[in-house]
Amino acid sequence: MKLIIINGPNLNLLGKREPEVYGNKTFEDYFADLQSKFKGVELEYYQSNIEGEIINKIQEVGFSYDGIILNAAAFTHTSIGIGDAVKAIETAVVEVHISNTHKREEFRHISFISAAAKGVILGFGLQSYDLAIQGFL
Ligand code: DQA
Repeated sequence: MKLIIINGPNLNLLGKREPEVYGNKTFEDYFADLQSKFKGVELEYYQSNIEGEIINKIQEVGFSYDGIILNAAAFTHTSIGIGDAVKAIETAVVEVHISNTHKREEFRHISFISAAAKGVILGFGLQSYDLAIQGFL
């Protein structure tokens, strides 16, 4: 099983960024935990702060990988382009968020990705990614 985690803008700052919302752990450390937990899964990680690069990555993997775990971060709430890319590909996408976006500001209640996603997992902290992998297994 070949899965990729694609993280959007500012998620490279996990560990430093608003720790009361997103926790103290860096994504690199968490990703190492996931790799040792899911040894049978070929797990990749990609992060970009640039909308077009995220679209390029979705297109690149979206016809050959078994699953995409996508946290498009702030682009979730703004990007018709990323939503269209998710619609355009064959690979199933699980949308994840670390925080419960529905408990937060109203602009975070909208997602341009959810309608095209296989499922959505949010609000479980970094464990949201773990649950998404389990969803694919
Ligand atoms: C986020 C929620 C988004 O609203 C926010 O812009 C992020 C992270 C989350 O994982 O909780 O950057 O996607």
